Amino acid sequence: MRVITVANQKGGVGKTTTAINLGTALAAVGRRVLIMDCDAQGNASTGLGIEPAARRKSSYDVLIGEATMGEAILSTKVPNLDILPGDENLAGVETLIHDDPRKNFKLREAFEAFRRAGAKYDVVLIDCPPSLSTVTINAMVAANAVLVPLQCEFLAMEGLSQILRTIELVRSGLNPDLEIQGVVLTMYDKRNNLSDQVATEVRTYLGSKVYQTVIPRNVRLSEAPSFGLPAILYDHKCSGSEAYIMLAQELMQRERERLAA
Ligand SMILES: Nc1ncnc2c1ncn2[C@@H]1O[C@H](COP(=O)(O)OP(=O)(O)OP(=O)(O)O)[C@@H](O)[C@H]1O
Ligand SMILES: [Mg+2]
Repeated sequence: MRVITVANQKGGVGKTTTAINLGTALAAVGRRVLIMDCDAQGNASTGLGIEPAARRKSSYDVLIGEATMGEAILSTKVPNLDILPGDENLAGVETLIHDDPRKNFKLREAFEAFRRAGAKYDVVLIDCPPSLSTVTINAMVAANAVLVPLQCEFLAMEGLSQILRTIELVRSGLNPDLEIQGVVLTMYDKRNNLSDQVATEVRTYLGSKVYQTVIPRNVRLSEAPSFGLPAILYDHKCSGSEAYIMLAQELMQRERERLAA
């Protein structure tokens, strides 16, 4: 079971869209995928058609030790793809576990118990909130790797250095094995020079860590969640869906190379 945290402290850069559509594309080729929604907004849950009333237990309950992962997981309309929902209670986790000496290891411990119980997933994608909060740190401590969606926009590099510093901090103290799975450029607009400049700059800085696949700005990607469907099911031929299918291929290729190394 490979645990990949999708994180960027900046809001609205495509974390949730990436978790949902990358997860769906991996599930479509037979991987057993779990998306863990760790954001109080619950967008990954809603985007997969899980209404608030249907969420019995959430990642909040898992984080505070009130539920096991297995108890919180629900299936989705997508074969091979399950969700561990998030809900608004997550906004209060910080205060609740603040004084706990193990506060950064809550999720890691939940995953350890989940593995011991025989978790059946090949890949877990953790969708993080737009902050470097305790929840995001927990997600990095529990993970094997971090995938950073980066929007091609002004000041993208500043945001990128901040998340890379945080990953480095987690690695130096809390989770020495944490890898950078990669950076994926999102909302790329080929008519906008800035998009190209950002892409070039990020590739110069990070080289092969940056995925070749670029996610274009595509309105279908933003329409799909209101139907409770991944874009890949809503319109599998749109440019956004095609890009996420390619991203999944590239990710699997990287995983094969990692295992061979
Ligand atoms: N490639 C894209 N093209 C067009 N719209 C997109 C694209 N990716 C995401 N969006 C839309 O942009 C908005 C933000 O995307 P998303 O929710 O995935 O970002 P996020 O990083 O998870 O946001 P938050 O930080 O609030 O959790 C959403 O309305 C989404 O549908
Ligand atoms: Mg989100």
